[in-house]
Amino acid sequence: MQAAKHEHWSSGFTFLLAAVGSAVGLGNIWRFPYVVAENGGGAFVLIYLAIVVIIGIPLLMSELMIGRSSQKPPLAAMQSFGGSKAQKLWNAVGWSYLLVPMGILTFYSVVAGWTLDYALGMGIGTFNNLEDGASASMFQELLASPVKLIFWMTLSIGITVGIVARGLKSGLEQTVKILMPALFVILVILVLYASITGDFARSFAFMFEPDFSKITPELVLMAAGQAFFSLSLGSGAIMVYGSYLTRDISIPKMAVGVAFADTGVALLAGFAIFPIVFAFGVDHASGPGLVFVTLPIVFNDMGGIGQIFGVLFFMLLAFAAITSTISLLEPMVAQLSEEGRFKRARAAVYCGAVLWTVGVFVALSNNILKDVHPLGFLPLFEGKTIEGVIEFLSANVFMLLNGLLVSIFVGWSVKRSVTLEEMGLGDSMLFKIWFLLVRFVVPLGVGFIFYDVVL
Ligand code: PFF
Repeated sequence: MQAAKHEHWSSGFTFLLAAVGSAVGLGNIWRFPYVVAENGGGAFVLIYLAIVVIIGIPLLMSELMIGRSSQKPPLAAMQSFGGSKAQKLWNAVGWSYLLVPMGILTFYSVVAGWTLDYALGMGIGTFNNLEDGASASMFQELLASPVKLIFWMTLSIGITVGIVARGLKSGLEQTVKILMPALFVILVILVLYASITGDFARSFAFMFEPDFSKITPELVLMAAGQAFFSLSLGSGAIMVYGSYLTRDISIPKMAVGVAFADTGVALLAGFAIFPIVFAFGVDHASGPGLVFVTLPIVFNDMGGIGQIFGVLFFMLLAFAAITSTISLLEPMVAQLSEEGRFKRARAAVYCGAVLWTVGVFVALSNNILKDVHPLGFLPLFEGKTIEGVIEFLSANVFMLLNGLLVSIFVGWSVKRSVTLEEMGLGDSMLFKIWFLLVRFVVPLGVGFIFYDVVL
């Protein structure tokens, strides 16, 4: 059978919609606000912004370059540069760029499922007239129910497979063209409402007035992990999306655009949530429950309008999740259909089946399997559930390792003349700064952070 054709984005703008869609996800709207709240507010935001600029943008450019230059999915891309003494290592990195997103998808699909459950629940009024403590116990009930978790996870995987199976133009592009503008409109409405009715001034101070004494190695580590996850780095999505770019589109501009939009949305999510959380005097540092436990209480206290905002909020989360899950499935499906013997739709269904199977174990590690600690005999994995192990390995260890190795690949292995030409900046100051960051600053910075996570 002939390999599937390699498609291209209709324009630079559709690429941006898709790449921003990948970057903007649960990481921005669910995770960013609670990680900020747990890590001292402004100090965290400051370090986060610095990491996005110094490490995030140079790596986005590197991954886009590998994809665009090779016009191939991640594994084939890493193989195609060829001729290097360390080629075996680069092939392994290519594999890792396929497997990390699959690992992330197993738990991401479960959380995406929660958002679907909440969007529906808000819509039909399940969260109306909440008694004290009811919101927390409803969230616990969801986590304790294998049937619900698996049902919603199946739906989120099904939607993702359905979109990716249709291919780049009729699947991914069509989806982001509808969901991204919708996401943006909903976010703006929520931010406006929160800043008019909530405590905007306190939120602003909370996010932008750093208390420097709070900056610790631990905080830097959290910020780096959050930046990698939020920018979809080290996980194939950006690389494979880059491979659908034509040569006339500027990589540096696209990278800056993605980083800017992603960071903007994370900050806006903070401004949609903190002002109302502060105004209602509920705990802002409630961890992962900030969105799923605290917000329903707030929406409930608002009365009728709260229900509308509740539906909007969880729809926003669900849309953001879907534009990310499709980018997580795409690397493996592209590899199997363009380089392997599978038709795209079939590749998508097979990947979905594998994901679903592993996803069931991940979902169950919230309840029936919560006392199973695979690898628990190793100190690094002590107390981690199946979900914990997969999340730690994919979203912490291998994501960072991939970023580290790719910066070495681009900075030291790929010919300078190739990178010079791909960046389209000429041998300018900007190019030199980028090259310096990729050769030294990114590997050393990520290496240091990595050393801290794993050792
Ligand atoms: N960036 C997404 C988020 O912030 O939710 C998550 C993600 C998507 C990570 C795609 C990695 C990836 F390849």
